[in-house]
Amino acid sequence: MAFELPPLPYDKGALAPHMSAETLEFHHGKHHKAYVDKTNGFVVDKGLEGRKLSEVIAHAKETGDRGLFNNSAQIWNHSFFWQCLTPTQAAPSGKLADLITSEFGSADELVKKIVAESTAHFSNGWGWLVLDGGKLKVTSLHDADTPVAHEGMQPLLTIDVWEHAYYIDYRNSRPGYLEAVTANLINWEFVARNLDGAGVSRADQEG
Ligand code: FE2
Repeated sequence: MAFELPPLPYDKGALAPHMSAETLEFHHGKHHKAYVDKTNGFVVDKGLEGRKLSEVIAHAKETGDRGLFNNSAQIWNHSFFWQCLTPTQAAPSGKLADLITSEFGSADELVKKIVAESTAHFSNGWGWLVLDGGKLKVTSLHDADTPVAHEGMQPLLTIDVWEHAYYIDYRNSRPGYLEAVTANLINWEFVARNLDGAGVSRADQEG
């Protein structure tokens, strides 16, 4: 079975005005879909049918196959990213709120850190909140790189900072995009669920 483009968990227009239907049409319908189609082509050519997405990513990293790694990792990163967004943002609560307060002081301070890290990331990449050694950590990874390929790095939250994520709505203003997304669209309930260490499985799929 080939990999599929997972449907968005909300209506295409639901994140407007912070992220427009047009952005989602291109970002999900064209960019994300292209990664799925290219990966499926590679999987057939390389005889990797039947492997899970996370296994294909690991295989590509192990064998130094950049084309396969970039495309398969981008399927996973985007599948995770869509779940990190919601039209009905609610503040972090419970265990997640406690961890954020003890490690960053407040949710506002954490968000400032995520925005600063993601703004400063040079060129294409992804801003991340991960669990690393059981502690919350803000970081960023370049191009298609993904926590799936980093042992011990458990994904909690990501924000896409490739230019295709914001150019339609914010032109070249990456900070404007990051401020709007973090203030209005973060699905903190999804982030909290990932504290169980099973974040990778939430954007994985059978091959
Ligand atoms: Fe993207």
